[in-house]
Amino acid sequence: MQTYKLGVIGTGYVGLVTAACLAEIGHDVIALDVDEGKISNLRSGVMPIHEPGLSELVHRNSGRRLRFTTSYDEVVPWTDVVFIAVGTPSDSNGDVELRYVWQAVDTIAHHVHRPLIVAVKSTVPVGTCDMIEKRLREMVRAARGNTVSDGISVVSNPEFLREGRAVADFMKADRIVIGSSEPEPARVLKEIYSPLGVPFVFCDRRSSELIKYASNAFLATKISFINSIARLCERVGADVVKVAEGMGYDHRIMPEHLRAGLGYGGSCFPKDTAALLRICSKVGFDFKILKAAVEVNDSQVDWVIDKLRAVLGELAGKTVAVWGIAFKPNTDDTRESPALRLISRVLQLGATVKAYDPVATPDGNLPGLVVCSDAASCVKHADALVVATEWAEFVNMDFTSVREQMKNPICIDARNCLNPSEVLEAGFRYLGLGRSISIG
Ligand code: UDX
Repeated sequence: MQTYKLGVIGTGYVGLVTAACLAEIGHDVIALDVDEGKISNLRSGVMPIHEPGLSELVHRNSGRRLRFTTSYDEVVPWTDVVFIAVGTPSDSNGDVELRYVWQAVDTIAHHVHRPLIVAVKSTVPVGTCDMIEKRLREMVRAARGNTVSDGISVVSNPEFLREGRAVADFMKADRIVIGSSEPEPARVLKEIYSPLGVPFVFCDRRSSELIKYASNAFLATKISFINSIARLCERVGADVVKVAEGMGYDHRIMPEHLRAGLGYGGSCFPKDTAALLRICSKVGFDFKILKAAVEVNDSQVDWVIDKLRAVLGELAGKTVAVWGIAFKPNTDDTRESPALRLISRVLQLGATVKAYDPVATPDGNLPGLVVCSDAASCVKHADALVVATEWAEFVNMDFTSVREQMKNPICIDARNCLNPSEVLEAGFRYLGLGRSISIG
């Protein structure tokens, strides 16, 4: 295997996981971030994020094949390929904010002295890699002439890493997408990833950029589809957990991302669906299915609120315990968390909310929210319990002792993660989402 000198710009969860995994498979890697505090922490082995397996990889490779820096001068003149893995947040219109990408591109351009491949990992709107290549070549041509500028190539190489499983998703990727307008950079990228032994998809840059949005939009739609089936289940007396199980065995459907619940959140699905809808509106395409998927997701919290009101009446003056703050289990990430949306709505309706999460803490300002240090104190004297994130700790809870703490034994399982008969046997009234066993 040929090893390469690789630079990774950005040490967020995509950049850091990419850098550590590329070092693990044998390449020499320098990861760069403009945040000096983050880099000095990484040099002393302190991880900026909670990601299983990551700290082991960083420790094993640090000082050998993995280094950290804040200096482009150390990276760009040295590297064969530089990966851009900076954040691309949404602005208030749902448009992708490319400020950090352009900062990285312009700084790379100032430091280029020889031919270079720039691989774009950040999720960017279709056509961005074309614009990056044009800008880089123009800037480099002005500074160093045609020979260097003609040797600059930009490749689209999107990531599909899930938080909480990012290292495993990198090492056992379902596919690696390489979007390139020339054969040589595509060959180099293929060789870099070849130790992984996973399938490759080679295509043009625009298709590659769209593969990322289309994949996330499809998964988000799959979740909204099963959430809609869950609503139908309640009307016809069926159980969505069984319906999803029965559907998931079909290899054309598959069981992943078919769990009904409080809806999707996190740093990708809400942002990428909004960005894709903005891309569509700019080219005059009405993406009806995706719009509906977003609408369904936006109303999932209200559905759970309706259930709470149906069992408690007016929420003002009541105490609601919420288990889960993170947008999904095994992460401390609360970005776009449906649990936080639920908490904020219940607070607005005048209830007292007590919340507990094994790892996450709410980042925003939620006046009136009582954050508890354990699951038991959270449910003390509560009128109802809502399970908003399916942490294993909640799934394995002894519900008889939980019931003893509560004022009213009402449990709304907003992730369909509990065993209903155990909860019912403990004396609770159990309400799942789209489950026929919502009696008690
Ligand atoms: C996602 C994509 O899976 C990944 O490929 C992409 O690169 C980044 O976005 P991530 O946001 O880490 O990854 O989480 P994921 O596990 O996909 O879950 C996203 C949201 O959907 C979570 O809020 C989760 O609770 C919800 N979800 C997931 C469901 O409601 N039901 C499901 O069946 C699966």
